[in-house]
Amino acid sequence: MLRIHTLRLPLSNLSLFSSQAQKPRLNNNYRTMMSYTKAASSQAFKDKKLLFRQLFEKDSSTYTYLLADVAHPDKPALLIDPVDKTVDRDLSLVKELGLKLIYAINTHVHADHVTGTGLIKTKVPSVKSIISKASKSKADLHIEAGDKIHFGDLFLEVRATPGHTLGCVTYVTGDGSDQPQPRMAFTGDALLIRGCGRTDFQGGSAHQLYQSVHSQIFSLPKETLIYPAHDYRGFTVSTVGEEMQYNPRLTKDEEMFKSIMENLNLPYPKMIDIAVPSNMVCGLQDLSVKPVDASSN
Ligand SMILES: [Fe+2]
Repeated sequence: MLRIHTLRLPLSNLSLFSSQAQKPRLNNNYRTMMSYTKAASSQAFKDKKLLFRQLFEKDSSTYTYLLADVAHPDKPALLIDPVDKTVDRDLSLVKELGLKLIYAINTHVHADHVTGTGLIKTKVPSVKSIISKASKSKADLHIEAGDKIHFGDLFLEVRATPGHTLGCVTYVTGDGSDQPQPRMAFTGDALLIRGCGRTDFQGGSAHQLYQSVHSQIFSLPKETLIYPAHDYRGFTVSTVGEEMQYNPRLTKDEEMFKSIMENLNLPYPKMIDIAVPSNMVCGLQDLSVKPVDASSN
């Protein structure tokens, strides 16, 4: 098993903590949810270490996340789930913010877009790509449950959350007084806001997904912020408590959940035959691009 020991992060983009999901309808449940959000925002103001940006790729409705420890002299940064089409945007932002990108990480082998990790490595050769060992795909570093990915004085914990694919993982910010509070969970397609990833391709299993979400995500503190790999309705963030209460699939018992997943009648994923083979090799297709200086350090 490859252990990764290196880095740390800080918090800024506060507008992200006031999503439309938490604004209207002030019944008691929503008041509780809003208090989580309010706590998250005020806490974020206090945390000067984590810089956080949520970025969007519109064709596949994918979120890419940029995290960095800006209290560290090197300002080490990582990208979670970069998309090939938006690599230049992401690297420009990294440069503008004076960050040193060290990791490009995937939550799983995506079927709906080509990962940007291979292209990033071509442009910034010092960046290391990371994916789970269970994904059986190519990357510089392979992680598994319990591993920690350090950037500066901050870190992400790895939780295995298979079910959408065999190799899905969730990355959770560290637990501790020196780490961002509330914690943040980057759930990939295992848990979406009021939904979840499909389970009918790539070694998917409704049973496994149900168990993963309940044991590895719903076991986190209720105020933990949920940042998924996609959203198709404009939501940007949720919380564990909110999804435990309102997720229309994962609030059901397992048998009902399996029945829902078996009857989604979704079309064949239009990008799967292109994206999966490419993503199995870190998104490295026939690329002929010149390296650029995307790191200010
Ligand atoms: Fe996916």
